[in-house]
Amino acid sequence: MTHSINYGRRQFLQYSAFGAAAALFPELLLANPTSARRSPTPGFKPDVEIEFSAREVFVPILNNGSKTKVQKYFAKLLKGPENTVQSFEDNYLGPTLNFAKGQKVRIYFDNNLLEHSIMHWHGLHVPQKSDGHPMYSIEPGERFVYEYEVLNNAGTSFYHSHAHNLTGSQVYFGLAGLLKVTDEEEKKLGLPTGEYDLPLVIQDKQFNRNGQLQYVRGMHDRMMGFLGDTILVNGKPNAEFAVKSRAYRFRALNGSTSRIYKLGWDDGTPLTAIGTDVSLLEKPETKPYVMLAPGDRVDLWLDFSGRPVGSKLAMYSLPFSGTMPPMFESMQRMRGGGQGGRGMMGGMGMMSGGLGQGEKFPIAIFHVTEKVGDSPKLPVQLVRRQRLTEKDVDNADNPLPIAITERHMRPLVNGRPFSLDEVMEIEKVKVGSIKKIKIFHPHEEHEMASQTSGHDMEGMDHGGMGGRGGGMGMRDEMGGGMMGGMMMAMAHPIHLHGQQFQVLSRKEGHVDREDYETVRHGFVDSGLKDTVLVMPGEEVEIIKPFQDFKGLYLYHCHNLEHEDLGMMRNFYVH
Ligand code: C2O
Ligand code: CU
Ligand code: CU
Repeated sequence: MTHSINYGRRQFLQYSAFGAAAALFPELLLANPTSARRSPTPGFKPDVEIEFSAREVFVPILNNGSKTKVQKYFAKLLKGPENTVQSFEDNYLGPTLNFAKGQKVRIYFDNNLLEHSIMHWHGLHVPQKSDGHPMYSIEPGERFVYEYEVLNNAGTSFYHSHAHNLTGSQVYFGLAGLLKVTDEEEKKLGLPTGEYDLPLVIQDKQFNRNGQLQYVRGMHDRMMGFLGDTILVNGKPNAEFAVKSRAYRFRALNGSTSRIYKLGWDDGTPLTAIGTDVSLLEKPETKPYVMLAPGDRVDLWLDFSGRPVGSKLAMYSLPFSGTMPPMFESMQRMRGGGQGGRGMMGGMGMMSGGLGQGEKFPIAIFHVTEKVGDSPKLPVQLVRRQRLTEKDVDNADNPLPIAITERHMRPLVNGRPFSLDEVMEIEKVKVGSIKKIKIFHPHEEHEMASQTSGHDMEGMDHGGMGGRGGGMGMRDEMGGGMMGGMMMAMAHPIHLHGQQFQVLSRKEGHVDREDYETVRHGFVDSGLKDTVLVMPGEEVEIIKPFQDFKGLYLYHCHNLEHEDLGMMRNFYVH
């Protein structure tokens, strides 16, 4: 393959001449998606049955007597073990679901909002019709029925709205909840349970003077991602946990739309992770800090043994850099950390809230209030997993591409905006196969062309890749700044629906070394994941199985403003 600019140019012209060459699937269009699941399947015998509804309510969030309008999931357990649904009092967060591997689950979702919506089970490996694809968004007053077997191993997942074009807003206004899966293997480990197994759902919000939630105000908030200035943990500000002098399992979930957290103790004590996105690790891993991108989870083993009663530990989001375009970050620095809010830059819409991406701030205080004699010991070995290797894939030399691209100032994947039911050749995958996938930033068109060589690139839109051909070639001149390549100079948490994947490698191709140093030790890549943070200029290879189910499975940026801008596509598993 010659690395000529003409290659991309030619593809671009071809695209323009013939219009969208991407394949449309008549069977998907014909099967009226909204009537796909209105009633239960007679042959499906559920072990667990839950009635969910979503509606607008007012809840107290700030401790000043005000009530905030939110969108909230309510759940009623119709069938199954009593602890399946655990609700948070006075909160906007949806109830925590406790599932067990092997359970058959049926969920009714009643949309009592004033707009369309659909629920998605982030991290669960379920049939496409129960995955909450935005094409199944239902209107107010309608009901959707999900049916699936819990195939996942023990781990921490979550559920949230995946409403077509409204995911960011609905998650922001409250439509999300934690989902735990347990299995026999986990039970044998004697990990902390009950009151010692706690959620740590981290979100950033912005409130106006009346205590009401503010969301994006314009295109810049969408492009750069919305950042709130108030950090909530489990739905409340100024989080403080009263803990005993023993070990806990905290299930951290980044439920923010675009804020990235760098979890760490203020005093430099390392953190121990025992699980990632969807499952337990083989062995605990101790890290100086843990990067938690939107959509990511990490199960932390926090041991307060030996800490005197009265002592306090502060968990912070520690400072980091390089996840935003350089120009944006220097403006953030100029503004001087936390001062000024939207003031100076507000006019340009550069800042949303007064807390920049990568700034340091406290997340939660842990207050040791009781001394106890014994504590569970951290297991040396957690679970045995067969690591997926290159030998398992059928395309080792020809990975499927997920290119982080942009066009007309919108972030995209693989050069084309989201479409409910359109797939390109490179997005078709045989059911049962295990694929190597390369997530990368094509800095130039020829790179795009060569990285994806061997694939049928027809229909791949090369325009505006930040290179020279797309008419937005100012990236190099502006140092990755304002005009082109803005999105490519950002970190993107890339999430794939369906089965969990393994990170194979990270290559620091074009990363800024100094910035990368502030995040590099925080990736827990040894476990199975469903979301991976890709730094600017970085290339991440993953191995992902596409087993069991056919249909459309999304891949997208879990910066939810980006997702809603169309940074999302489908794999068609057939
Ligand atoms: Cu948590 Cu498609 O998303
Ligand atoms: Cu998902
Ligand atoms: Cu993104």
